[in-house]
Amino acid sequence: MGNRLEGKVALVTGGSRGIGKGIAKLFAREGAKVMITSRKAESCEEAAKEIGGTVDFEPGHIGKQEDMERVIGATSDRLGAIDILVNNAATNPYAGPMIDVDRARWDKTLEINMTAPMFWTQGVWQAGMKETGGSILNISSVGGFHTSPILGVYDVTKAALIHMTKQLAAELGPKTRVNALAPGLIKTDFARVLWEGERGGEVAKAYPLNRLGEPDDVAKAALYFCDDSASGWVTGQTLILDGGGSIGFKRVG
Ligand SMILES: NC(=O)c1ccc[n+]([C@@H]2O[C@H](COP(=O)([O-])OP(=O)(O)OC[C@H]3O[C@@H](n4cnc5c(N)ncnc54)[C@H](OP(=O)(O)O)[C@@H]3O)[C@@H](O)[C@H]2O)c1
Repeated sequence: MGNRLEGKVALVTGGSRGIGKGIAKLFAREGAKVMITSRKAESCEEAAKEIGGTVDFEPGHIGKQEDMERVIGATSDRLGAIDILVNNAATNPYAGPMIDVDRARWDKTLEINMTAPMFWTQGVWQAGMKETGGSILNISSVGGFHTSPILGVYDVTKAALIHMTKQLAAELGPKTRVNALAPGLIKTDFARVLWEGERGGEVAKAYPLNRLGEPDDVAKAALYFCDDSASGWVTGQTLILDGGGSIGFKRVG
């Protein structure tokens, strides 16, 4: 138990599982009052129980404006003015060459991964962050820096989020800081197909740190960006967090 976020109110989208739950857990341990949201009420309730501390939940679909307004309203009413928003929830409904994607899955990926973080940020800004200040953290991906044979559509949205982070940081300073994390492969349900079984071991070998990431690895970096005493002069930045995978390492033997 620490107190790095004592008295802060944090809203974490996709807080019921994986990286979002890891962030919510660490933020609560550091003294924040945390609101988690995801589509399924039961998952949120279970996660809130597991996390402990001052944690509340309000279910909602991040792509729906009315859900967003309800979740932001519930957070302010029950926990107080929002200091921290973590735009974490995302989707990846399509795998394959980008050139072959159908319109419906293209639109869905952009709506959830790109449009939603923009309007959730606008929502908390208008709900009071423009007066009280705060921190926005966008969960992008190392894929936002690369091309991919199968994840091109998803990666385009994550690249857009990196640029959105810079644009919003420029607009929302000096009171509000906006940063992003770009994780490599993290052991969650979202990426299970990429790490389960022998495949995970193979991927880990390409990482100088010789292991895949855990939600807690991302949570610790999230804490850095949302703790004003640690990163108070950092905004518009994206931190790659991938065990060194993106530096092009190949383990021999
Ligand atoms: N895992 C990785 O290797 C990896 C790598 C790089 C970046 N990332 C990024 O990290 C973030 C979290 O991923 P994760 O691996 O933790 O995923 P995860 O384990 O699948 O968790 C996703 C969370 O988002 C919620 N969610 C999904 N769609 C939603 C929607 N439309 N509205 C509201 N909530 C929604 C899910 O709950 P419900 O189902 O109840 O809605 C769940 O709480 C994403 O932005 C992802 O792109 C992940």
